[in-house]
Amino acid sequence: MKPRHFISLLDLSSDELRQLIYRAIELKQHRDPNYQPLKGQVLAMIFEKSSTRTRISFEAGMVHFGGSALFLSPRDTQLGRGEPLRDSAKVISSMVDCVMLRTNTHETVTTFAEHSSVPVINGLTDQQHPCQLLADMQTYFELRGDIKGKTVTWIGDGNNMCHSYIHAAMRLDFTLNIACPEGYYPDHEISQHAHEHIRFFSNAITAAQQADLIVTDVWASMGQEEEQQARTIAFKDYQVSQAIMAVAKQDAIFMHCLPAHRDEEVSSEVIDGHQSVVFAEAENRLHAQKALLEFLLCNQHS
Ligand code: CP
Ligand code: NVA
Repeated sequence: MKPRHFISLLDLSSDELRQLIYRAIELKQHRDPNYQPLKGQVLAMIFEKSSTRTRISFEAGMVHFGGSALFLSPRDTQLGRGEPLRDSAKVISSMVDCVMLRTNTHETVTTFAEHSSVPVINGLTDQQHPCQLLADMQTYFELRGDIKGKTVTWIGDGNNMCHSYIHAAMRLDFTLNIACPEGYYPDHEISQHAHEHIRFFSNAITAAQQADLIVTDVWASMGQEEEQQARTIAFKDYQVSQAIMAVAKQDAIFMHCLPAHRDEEVSSEVIDGHQSVVFAEAENRLHAQKALLEFLLCNQHS
């Protein structure tokens, strides 16, 4: 039987995604130290890029559930010395129960999954960051209820986070207003499937009108450090400031996956202000991923 993977938010149906969000909320509210559904199970975590939240939340989540997690860096495994990915996938998956990868190219995760005998989780690629969306959506549902029919505004780079927001809009039936500078729009390959769920804007203020949720991310993602200067110029009119929050709904909230650069993509006033929920969002990585691990490893999928 082929294992069930979580490489994209689209790997879950709308019902499965909602169930997973509600389960994450439940796990957060009622932590039972005797509930150890993954006792003796092992999660391998392969990180080609840095991480604070993803690494700690997966590691802590496995411990809470009675299992354990292995941190693997290409620097000190054979992965970094050219062992074929398909061989590594076969070997690693023969010894552990689940594998999480954070990689430079999305294809690394899809190729690994093709050859893995256990579930594979995308812990961020250059194209998508679906685990972050589980936490973001959990946070919205907790604070404001179901996001169906709401308006979410994405301001900034059409990057991996933006792509996963497009997928969330498709699965949870909300409208995503996307405001990006010319040349930084999301991939057409991804946005073309979203139809009426997304609307493009060149002006950030217009995109934010009457929004229920405003979201942004860094202007230069991991691997784009040398573009920082050019991007700082290109994105100068796309900072989430108090002026942006002022045109959104009065009870609108602000999210950012973190790490953030204060006074670049978001003003200090906004990220540290009363509408910001970034720390609840970060904590929810733990609860949402516990729900994900339970879903992938404890349910029988056909
Ligand atoms: N948001 C997020 O994925 O954070 P890390 O890079 O710290 O894992
Ligand atoms: N877009 C960012 C997200 C970091 C969690 C990056 O890829 O670096």
